Amino acid sequence: MIPSKSVISDGKGNISLETVLVGQPGAGEVLVKIVAAGLCHTDWDSIQNWNKSFIVGHEGAGIVEAVGEGVTGVNKGDKVILNWAIPCGECFQCKEGNLHICEVNSPVCGCGLDGHAHIESSLREEHPIERSFHLGTLSEYTIIKKEAVVVINSDIPYSSASIIGCGVMTGWGSVVNAAKVDAGSSACVIGCGGVGLNCIQGAKHSGAAIIIAIDINNERLEQAKQFGATHGVIAEKDDKDFAKVAAKVREICGGRGADYAFECTAIPALGSAPLALVRSAGTAVQVSGIEQRIDFNCELFEWDKIYINPLYGMCNPERDFTKLLRLYHTGALKLDELVTKTYNLDDIATGLDDLINGRVAKGVVMMPGYDKASS
Ligand SMILES: NC(=O)c1ccc[n+]([C@@H]2O[C@H](COP(=O)([O-])OP(=O)(O)OC[C@H]3O[C@@H](n4cnc5c(N)ncnc54)[C@H](O)[C@@H]3O)[C@@H](O)[C@H]2O)c1
Ligand SMILES: [Zn+2]
Ligand SMILES: [Zn+2]
Repeated sequence: MIPSKSVISDGKGNISLETVLVGQPGAGEVLVKIVAAGLCHTDWDSIQNWNKSFIVGHEGAGIVEAVGEGVTGVNKGDKVILNWAIPCGECFQCKEGNLHICEVNSPVCGCGLDGHAHIESSLREEHPIERSFHLGTLSEYTIIKKEAVVVINSDIPYSSASIIGCGVMTGWGSVVNAAKVDAGSSACVIGCGGVGLNCIQGAKHSGAAIIIAIDINNERLEQAKQFGATHGVIAEKDDKDFAKVAAKVREICGGRGADYAFECTAIPALGSAPLALVRSAGTAVQVSGIEQRIDFNCELFEWDKIYINPLYGMCNPERDFTKLLRLYHTGALKLDELVTKTYNLDDIATGLDDLINGRVAKGVVMMPGYDKASS
């Protein structure tokens, strides 16, 4: 078995850097040497709340080291991006085209460990340990299902590739795949972190004419402008029902709400905020996946508004990662610029601290022997 330095959490707020042992891939599985792993706000939430031990991390890019029996289309030496919504290709939702909510393999649709590689493939002190989102990318090596990788032929740095498989895809896909923002429209983005900045990039890509960035952090608003925001509105934490922000949005949008609004903070109280910001018959999108019960006035729905909560930007991994890479290579999608700081595995605590304090757009952990420019 291969020793693999990994970030382990107890799901009760604690992390430790430990060496786990990683075995060989079973049938349908691949062994990947991780080069870069992105940090997402969901990692922070998992460390606080999951109440079980696991290897942290669900964004990553690396090199295939070995493939198991029956694996085709993925070979040793391939450069890959990891994808946590792992399609089985056979279930009802996969056949409907909803690969991101696969009923067999999804780590978030109540499917248990079916999407996980054989659990004995990662051992911590001789006991099997689970990997976050079936990936556990904050680890030098991982064993995952073949469907959890997308092979890329691209000279993109691993650091930039690593963030595609959650933050970039979730933001961009919520705009392009889910809301299908149209040219000339107006769109608001609440929370301009790793996900929100990619909503802004998606809105720009779709030709939205007015893109309003909303955040409590002024630096975030400045950064949002570099990614395509045309306006910035500072939010106040105690702005009930986002009334003050809504007034500013109406001012910018010629007296009525925006055509689209995207919520990217995961703050429960803001679950209704995108409804407050859109005009009648506008589309409110809850990107962050708020799961708590919240109260709000149904008048916010008036009239004819649509409220959707797409998972992971309705990701079709092969199709969308390929498109995102093409856009990156034409200069239409900024990825290198999103990676505002890189860390070593030993600095993971600093990486998480920077994330929750809004000091970075995207932080990325580089595995030993690699740096931000490695490609
Ligand atoms: N459901 C999915 O498919 C999915 C996928 C990825 C991430 N997420 C979730 O999306 C959320 C955003 O992730 P991220 O990595 O971009 O986090 P992040 O920490 O990088 O960004 C959050 C942003 O929200 C801003 N913010 C905080 N309070 C605010 C307020 N009251 N009003 C306006 N802005 C405010 C912060 O300043 C920050 O810029 C996370 O909670 C994450 O769990 C969901
Ligand atoms: Zn399926
Ligand atoms: Zn994520």
